[in-house]
Amino acid sequence: MEIVLKSLKDTEKLAKKITKDLAKNSGSVLALYGNLGSGKTTFTQFLAKALGVKEKILSPTFVIMKTFSLSKPVGSFKFLTHIDTYRLNSAKDLTSLGLKDLLKDKENILVIEWPEKIEKLLPKNTVRIYFSVLNEKERKVVIK
Ligand SMILES: Nc1ncnc2c1ncn2[C@@H]1O[C@H](COP(=O)(O)OP(=O)(O)OP(=O)(O)O)[C@@H](O)[C@H]1O
Ligand SMILES: [Mg+2]
Repeated sequence: MEIVLKSLKDTEKLAKKITKDLAKNSGSVLALYGNLGSGKTTFTQFLAKALGVKEKILSPTFVIMKTFSLSKPVGSFKFLTHIDTYRLNSAKDLTSLGLKDLLKDKENILVIEWPEKIEKLLPKNTVRIYFSVLNEKERKVVIK
């Protein structure tokens, strides 16, 4: 599926739609691809809002992985973990942070920016979202 997000409002709508799909349990891992500034963190922030995360999600420049509590469960989910592998040297570093357990955790939604580095570890039912910049306000999104 391919869509054009014409503004932040559209990105927020997409996050809400995906939250509903998650609640129906189509998978718990979202892999977000795309260049710097293409909207991965912005999408994650809207997703967190739609899921009822109270804390503000920041671009994890120094943090590789952070887990947030949902204010109330969404389907079977109680937590959202945000991973950004940008500064990671090897997949082993994340494995040592407990990634494999998280990937299996039915209560946890995992959102991964720069997932290329851990591609091999991603489960079969991973939802892959590819972001690209069209212009200042518009983003193209391909969902697989
Ligand atoms: N329709 C849109 N959807 C998402 N972001 C948009 C949109 N229009 C403009 N933007 C802006 O584009 C920027 C996207 O930055 P963001 O940090 O989300 O990118 P990123 O993909 O996470 O980059 P990085 O790889 O550096 O982590 C933000 O400043 C955001 O406000
Ligand atoms: Mg980011």
